[in-house]
Amino acid sequence: MTEMISVPNTTTATKAVPALPDAQIVTQVKHYTDRLFSFRCTRPASMRFRSGEFVMIGLMGDPNPETGKVKPLLRAYSIASPNWDEELEFYSIKVPDGPLTSRLQHINVGDEIILRPKPVGTLVHDALRPGKRLWFFATGTGFAPFASLLREPQTYEDYDEMIITHTCREVGELTYGHDLIEGLKTDELLNEVIGDGFWKKIKYYPTTTREHSPKMGRITDLMRSGAAFADLGVSVLNPDTDRAMICGNLAFNIELKAMLEEYGLIEGANSNPQHYVVEKAFLD
Ligand code: A2P
Repeated sequence: MTEMISVPNTTTATKAVPALPDAQIVTQVKHYTDRLFSFRCTRPASMRFRSGEFVMIGLMGDPNPETGKVKPLLRAYSIASPNWDEELEFYSIKVPDGPLTSRLQHINVGDEIILRPKPVGTLVHDALRPGKRLWFFATGTGFAPFASLLREPQTYEDYDEMIITHTCREVGELTYGHDLIEGLKTDELLNEVIGDGFWKKIKYYPTTTREHSPKMGRITDLMRSGAAFADLGVSVLNPDTDRAMICGNLAFNIELKAMLEEYGLIEGANSNPQHYVVEKAFLD
């Protein structure tokens, strides 16, 4: 695990005149490991979104060698901040030869990024029927939309219990999620709106697969063996009570989706709310 570097928020940075189309200004950058970082930026005044949605963000690409023209290089990123936050937060992987993230990982406070303010996505409360328990299943940066939903008051109003599973390769890759969940205990807005102790509804189940940690293994395997339910002290998923959101790498999404269907859960969408929804953590 590499050391976390936190760059302080600078309000003067937001006064820069934007040079890019749909430009927003970076206000904070935190590096968690050599593969992961998060950043915050200004939010377009008119932009509304539902917690859990994603937007296209990026930087200007390199000039075309023949025409000299530059085009924006954009990727889909889940918004990790809740819809009431004045700023926007994102959680990103760093791919050494990734067209966007190889450059995005070097952004600093005061830099501009491009943000197309048209949020969409299926990891939203609207796509689920009412239920009692809500499961968030994430791998790697797939935690991002849940970071938004965990800071969204509706999540606590709609459910009696939340179970968050996060599987990562290494221990350092769990830090972002761990810190976020710890931070809920002192979140003033949630404490005010939902009431003190709302965070007690949360059960957090972090696991690693390639570095030793208190709980090792893929969540899919741990559910199949029954270990995850025993560790958490909860019953297996049941379509009468359980709702779920999945966000991780493609193989994980496919495998877990099949498992949820075996438990009897049906996939939902904005237009047809059901028991679970799935979205890919977008990689570069
Ligand atoms: P593993 O280390 O066994 O591949 P990545 O960083 O490659 O996106 O992976 C994030 C985490 O997701 C890793 O811990 C990885 O485990 C795990 N993972 C990958 N595929 C699956 C799958 N089909 N089911 C459950 N977990 C998976």
